[in-house]
Amino acid sequence: MYVKEAEFHELDTICAIGFDSWNNGLSDEKYLDECRGSEKYQAGTWYVLMENDDILSSLIVYHGRFNLKEGYFGIGSVATPYKLRGKGYASHLINLVKAELFLNHNAKAIFLHSDIGHQFYNRLGFVSVGGSDCMYISHDSSKFDGVLPTYF
Ligand SMILES: CC(C)(COP(=O)(O)OP(=O)(O)OC[C@H]1O[C@@H](n2cnc3c(N)ncnc32)[C@H](O)[C@@H]1OP(=O)(O)O)[C@@H](O)C(=O)NCCC(=O)NCCS
Repeated sequence: MYVKEAEFHELDTICAIGFDSWNNGLSDEKYLDECRGSEKYQAGTWYVLMENDDILSSLIVYHGRFNLKEGYFGIGSVATPYKLRGKGYASHLINLVKAELFLNHNAKAIFLHSDIGHQFYNRLGFVSVGGSDCMYISHDSSKFDGVLPTYF
């Protein structure tokens, strides 16, 4: 099992993983069209957890937008294929991407907006900012008291 930046040809598969959560009532085809044209998705870097040629989990990383200041990164659209959930893949991917951002991208802190119970992200070291759904983890365990990034 290993993590890598997603390749262009993998983007349709990645989008399809999130279909059950983010389709907003669209058909498969319309949802995929929306993903392909998404400015937001094009602005980030997708990471995937792989085994052989299979994508086990995926997420997107942002920086330089959504009010994320220098050294601040955002993780979004964390998703695992429906049949592969509950096996630790998303947790493993988040931990590997966290390590990559702190070690190789000089990240000061990483943010996310949790659409699910905070305990999932608490277990991975993220804490809620002021009780909101915006959660973060810093490289030096410092408390965050700046302006929150906008939703991504
Ligand atoms: C959330 C998600 C990414 C977890 O992926 P995963 O590979 O199954 O994650 P892990 O195996 O590492 O962890 C599983 C844990 O996720 C947590 N989890 C999953 N859905 C959750 C939810 N809606 N609320 C709170 N926790 C949740 C549970 O604690 C679960 O633990 P359990 O297996 O002991 O019940 C996956 O369920 C998914 O793709 N959901 C749809 C997309 C989504 O909601 N993404 C999160 C956006 S913030």
